[in-house]
Order: sequence, then C-alpha cells, then structure tokens
Amino acid sequence: MNRAWTMASRPSGEPTAENFAIVESPIPEPKHGEVLIRTLYMSLDPYMRGRMRSGPSYATPLQEGEVMTGEVVAVVEKSESPSHKVGDTVRAGIGWQEWAAIPAHIAKPVDPDLGPVSTGVGILGMPGMTAYFGLLEVLKPRAGDTLAVSAASGAVGAVVGQIGKINGCFVIGVAGSDEKCKYIVDELGFDGAINYKTQDVSAELARLSPTGVDCYFDNVGGPVSDAVFENLALKSRVAICGQISQYNAATPPQGPRNMGALIRTRTTVEGFLVYDFELQHEIARVRISNWIKDGSIKYKEDVVDGFENAPEAFIGLLAGKNFGKLLVKVSE
Ligand SMILES: NC(=O)c1ccc[n+]([C@@H]2O[C@H](COP(=O)([O-])OP(=O)(O)OC[C@H]3O[C@@H](n4cnc5c(N)ncnc54)[C@H](OP(=O)(O)O)[C@@H]3O)[C@@H](O)[C@H]2O)c1
Repeated sequence: MNRAWTMASRPSGEPTAENFAIVESPIPEPKHGEVLIRTLYMSLDPYMRGRMRSGPSYATPLQEGEVMTGEVVAVVEKSESPSHKVGDTVRAGIGWQEWAAIPAHIAKPVDPDLGPVSTGVGILGMPGMTAYFGLLEVLKPRAGDTLAVSAASGAVGAVVGQIGKINGCFVIGVAGSDEKCKYIVDELGFDGAINYKTQDVSAELARLSPTGVDCYFDNVGGPVSDAVFENLALKSRVAICGQISQYNAATPPQGPRNMGALIRTRTTVEGFLVYDFELQHEIARVRISNWIKDGSIKYKEDVVDGFENAPEAFIGLLAGKNFGKLLVKVSE
C-alpha cells in the first residue's frame, strides 16, 4: 500500500498533530508515458506552512484532505517511458507520500555524480538554488560588502553565507542558538554570528560592522529584520526570501515596520522566488557541486527517520528545532 500525509484540517496558529492524517491507497500502476517512483527522502520546508493557509499567495492553497505539498528524491521502480529506466534517481513534487505514478517529464533526474542523492532536494535542490540566486542575482554583493543573513544555519542561510565568503563579503549570520552560531563561524567560516534569542541583534550588528550592512538576505522577517534595518548602510540591498517568523501567525501583522530607515539609507528591497531563475538552475547546481567538492562549501542535513514522523518534524522546523536541511528518510 501507498501512504500519504494529508492536511486533515487547516491549522490556526502553530500546526498540531491533529492537522495531519495518513491516508492509504493501493500502489498505482504507471500508464503509458508515466513512471512509478518510490520515495527515498522527503523534503520538509517552511513554505509548506504557507500552503496550509487559505487566502492570497503565489501558489494555490491546500484544501482539507489533500496530500501535503512537497518534493521528494525517489527511485524509478517501473517505467512506461523511454526517457527513464528502472533504478534512475529523480526528484519530483509528489507531496508527502511514499509512492506515485507520474508523467515521466515531471520526474527530474538527480545526478549522483554531483553529490549524494539526498542533496537533490537540499543544497543541490530548491534551497541551494534559493541561496545562489537570491544572493548573486538579487543582492549582487561586491567584495568588501557586509552581508547579513537570518536563519543562518538553515538550508538556505548556510549556503548564502558561504557563497558570500567566496565572493569576498564580510558575513554575519543571525541564528537561534549558541550551537548554531558556533557552527556557522567555526565550521562554515562566517565572520560573526548573533544569537537573536539571547543577544541584542541591533547592538551586535553595530559592533561587528560599524559601517553598516550592505546586503541583507532576509529569511525570517519580524524583530530580527527590524534590528537589521536599523543597521543598513547607504545604498544597501535587501532580498526578501522568507518571513518564517510570521508563518504561524493567525493574523500576520500588517503595515510598515521601520520603513524610515530605507529612506535614510536609500535602500532597495526586492522579494523573489527561487523559480524566477529556473532556467539557470542547472548551471548553479554544477557550480555548487564543484564548491562542495573543492571544500569551499559545507552542508549539514538533519535527517529524521520514518515517514510517520513527518508532521512532528515539520512542526519542529517552524520552531527552529532543525539544525541543517530537514529531510525525512522514507525508504532505503
Ligand atoms: N523565496 C523563495 O523562493 C524561498 C525558497 C526557499 C526558502 N525560502 C524561505 O527561506 C527561509 C529559510 O528556509 P530554509 O528552508 O532554509 O529553512 P531552515 O532555515 O532550514 O529552517 C527554518 C529556520 O528558521 C528559523 N526560525 C524559525 N522561527 C523563527 C523566528 N520566529 N524568528 C527567526 N528565525 C526563525 C529557525 O532557525 P533558528 O534556530 O535560527 O531560529 C529554523 O531552523 C524560510 O523563510 C523559507 O520560507 C524562500
């Protein structure tokens, strides 16, 4: 049997276990032009909380009873298409489920020569692409710039900081524990780290970079971003990647926050989506893979074992319990 996690009910505020339900169905048979895939790793990402919310978004919201949105790394078990053979590793947006029969063109190849297959939904997948294009195409840092990044030890933030270092930036990460802060400085080579739960972010930024922040890669919004805005340099750039501090809010705060800082500093603020750069993803995948191979970039995965543990892991992600790219290992 196939198992799928569905959104049983729409959460209000923090999701709970009751918002999710497992539904079983027979493993499907692929039709002409389709492949049957078995999930190896399931990616858990903050944007999934957005899909559980009704109301305007860049994507259609989930309805109650629908399979939770998501991308997996999977292996082809049956193929009715000449483009895929049994045993190929692919990634596909089949949601939180163990098996699926899908049109072959939706099953994108995962090249095992670029890195371990789990990275196909991590540093060599959507989060890695987000970091690469958000930094290099939206923020466009110059050598010597001070780059600040929030959720800095996470799937996106850790890559942003390291590509920033490769590009000659002075990199400051903001994260939610001393362990995460130590990791980004000692292991990833960031120049400074601030624990937003125990330190005054604004004062620490001013101390670490008295000339201000030239580039801010915003993954979180809320009070952390307020503090960074107080420290923006003249003609600085802000990339709005994510606002995770707001995702569980039943009524997200409305209205401007510290926008006066942007006038004083003539800052440019730009929101972006990783798919804005989709045509260039393959180039970035190879570049990041090369950086991993030559040791300029490291990555960390937080792998939770067992399909049944996905909701608990996802709830933990929104509370900062993950340390690195969060994955669920579903099968061997
Ligand atoms: N625009 C796009 O196309 C795009 C694509 C991918 C991801 N994103 C966004 O990028 C951000 C990071 O995603 P990710 O996959 O790399 O996740 P992640 O950083 O691996 O995990 C999320 C982290 O966010 C931090 N966090 C949670 N609540 C917070 C709060 N109230 N204030 C500050 N930090 C909080 C936690 O770390 P701490 O312990 O440090 O608090 C948590 O570990 C998310 O906002 C996501 O929606 C956007």
